[in-house]
Amino acid sequence: MTTMRIEDFELERFFARYEFAVRHLLCASDVEGWPMADLLALADAETAALWHDLRLGYTESLGHPLLRREIASLYESVAEDEVLVFSGAEEAIFVLANVLLGPGDHAIVAWPSYQSLHAVARSTGAAVTLHELRHGDGWAIDVDRMRAQLTPTTKLIVINVPHNPTGAVPDPATYRAVVDLAAEAGATLLVDEVYRFLERDLAGRLQAGADAGPHGVSIGVMSKSFALAGLRIGWLATHDAHLLDAAARFKDYTTICASAPAEILSLVALRARDAVLARSRRIVDANLELLDAFFERQAGRFRWVRPAGGPVGFPELLGDVPIERFAQDLVEAEGVLLAPGSIFGHPGNHFRLGFGRTDLPAALDELERFVARTLD
Ligand SMILES: Cc1ncc(COP(=O)(O)O)c(C=O)c1O
Repeated sequence: MTTMRIEDFELERFFARYEFAVRHLLCASDVEGWPMADLLALADAETAALWHDLRLGYTESLGHPLLRREIASLYESVAEDEVLVFSGAEEAIFVLANVLLGPGDHAIVAWPSYQSLHAVARSTGAAVTLHELRHGDGWAIDVDRMRAQLTPTTKLIVINVPHNPTGAVPDPATYRAVVDLAAEAGATLLVDEVYRFLERDLAGRLQAGADAGPHGVSIGVMSKSFALAGLRIGWLATHDAHLLDAAARFKDYTTICASAPAEILSLVALRARDAVLARSRRIVDANLELLDAFFERQAGRFRWVRPAGGPVGFPELLGDVPIERFAQDLVEAEGVLLAPGSIFGHPGNHFRLGFGRTDLPAALDELERFVARTLD
């Protein structure tokens, strides 16, 4: 017998079963990964030399200084010593919840969400209140309802912008109100920004959590907008020096330091961010156009709130076929994988649809043929 101190991560258990066994992952949340050779072709003279001369020893625990500097430059007001590098956003979430929360503390987490954002918080012994986002509200945060969820022990509020699984992005007034609400409550505001830079409205991009105030924390990663999930490089950025220090000390018990090759490849990509992000946007925008047409044709069978950012959305299958059965039949018949909302603990007939992969056109064709065959 083993003792799990944390609940199973339903989405990861689901992917453990299907991710590398199906033909089309129509529910992935990343963007099609870069081929190594193409990425290295973007290296400047300094990063090419760093790559060529790289020694595979331990790396600096806080992160490579050049990488921390490059990450800091993604923000308006963050200095390089306000960045802590992790092995993926997942490690950053794990460490942050563990250093901030414990029994007697309370956290509010926007939900449905990437499960670790609430499960790790709960595993610390803290009380967690889910702030439910609703399809009928366009998946928007309800600030008055969130205010009513505050307690005297609320230490952390967690939002995800752009949001997984819905693709929602708050309007600027709502975002500001959440930033202010956290400040008034004396709580840390964690903004999971792994899909930042994939907003549809680039000019109207919201301020990053770390830039929004001294209580703001941003989590970023190379996996999603930068299309480099295999590097497993993520980070925390914040002006809160105590929090960073505690996180650095906790990291001594998780990974100690990040992978040396991954740090240099991340540096290459961040220095070439314009080209890297342009590629991701090209893939996502072209796929979204196909999805717009699909949802128009299929208006009687599906409905969705068009994602304002990121490479995922959370459509609803209309009618009386349960989404679990539909998704199961689809994967068995066509090898096309959708992620039913129940994986997020969501009770509706929704499913996560991912549109960051280059096989989306083929996967969508298969889905549409399956719909015509089975739902008519
Ligand atoms: C909102 C959100 N945060 C964090 C992560 C974790 O990212 P990574 O697996 O690259 O560490 C994910 C991955 O799907 C995510 O969707």
